[in-house]
Amino acid sequence: MSKFEDYNRVSRNYDDQRYAMGSDVMAALAQFHGRKPLEDLHVLDAGCGTGNYAKAFIEYGVGKVTLLDASHGMLEKAKEKLSDHISKGKVKNVVEATMPPLPFPDESFDVVMFTLVLHHLETNPNGKDFPVIEETLREGRRVLKKSGILLILSGPTEDVYERLWFVHLNRNICNRHLLHHPQYREWDQLFQNSGLKSVSYMNVNSDIPSHSLNSLLDPEGPLREEWRNCNSYWASATEDELKDVEAKINKMKSQGTLQQFVKDHDKMNGFYILQLLCAKIA
Ligand SMILES: C[S@@+](CC[C@H](N)C(=O)[O-])C[C@H]1O[C@@H](n2cnc3c(N)ncnc32)[C@H](O)[C@@H]1O
Repeated sequence: MSKFEDYNRVSRNYDDQRYAMGSDVMAALAQFHGRKPLEDLHVLDAGCGTGNYAKAFIEYGVGKVTLLDASHGMLEKAKEKLSDHISKGKVKNVVEATMPPLPFPDESFDVVMFTLVLHHLETNPNGKDFPVIEETLREGRRVLKKSGILLILSGPTEDVYERLWFVHLNRNICNRHLLHHPQYREWDQLFQNSGLKSVSYMNVNSDIPSHSLNSLLDPEGPLREEWRNCNSYWASATEDELKDVEAKINKMKSQGTLQQFVKDHDKMNGFYILQLLCAKIA
């Protein structure tokens, strides 16, 4: 279960802004480093949410996917989205469970992927030690086949957060949110401690589809709970910080400067940038 976000509530709007960003690069890495055709891969999507990545992987040609998530609401959306693939046997298993542990035997999967989930696992992160992420990576290693591939998609790097317009409304929210995300130096240590070795690390620039971009750039988005629910960034905010954001937006709105604020601070240029890591058993 996420330590700070209620995903049963979030599941209602999650897909307003979300899509399988970077899934094309992830599938390519799985095939290249796994040295098997996509159709021979069995992928565990751990923290699968509404199933966007599982669906993309199956549509690229991946043979089998197992879904795991702690939220009943998110899994219901995933089952709806993947119903065709479930009936054709492409989805091997759908498991409602809170990790760690991963409730599977040793050496079950060719690929284990954690997309945008690991930062939800730590209760009081200090930005340096990530014991629950480490335990989860150890579990990922255990359920991987010997030649398997572990893929992690994580939030933007510290510098990329600067490019998101809404970060500039209140820096404290961003600073606290960043503590949940290991940066490369911490990932490297986490891999070593979990018996893994990094084989590829990159920032993926993913084109944002128009429905998501329009929502992301909505100047009044932060005033609405369903908009904030699309990004766990906002779950880090205190009541006072949300009030501060609301006051700033309303002030700019009354002065007619709100649109310009978004324009001045949005440096994403229609792309979203995330950290993508690929590891193997050491
Ligand atoms: C930001 S969403 C990412 C969903 C999906 N991977 C994606 O990228 O669209 C985080 C997901 O992780 C799930 N989650 C959080 N903590 C979890 C845990 N300890 N065990 C399993 N799932 C968890 C949440 O329920 C939610 O569906």
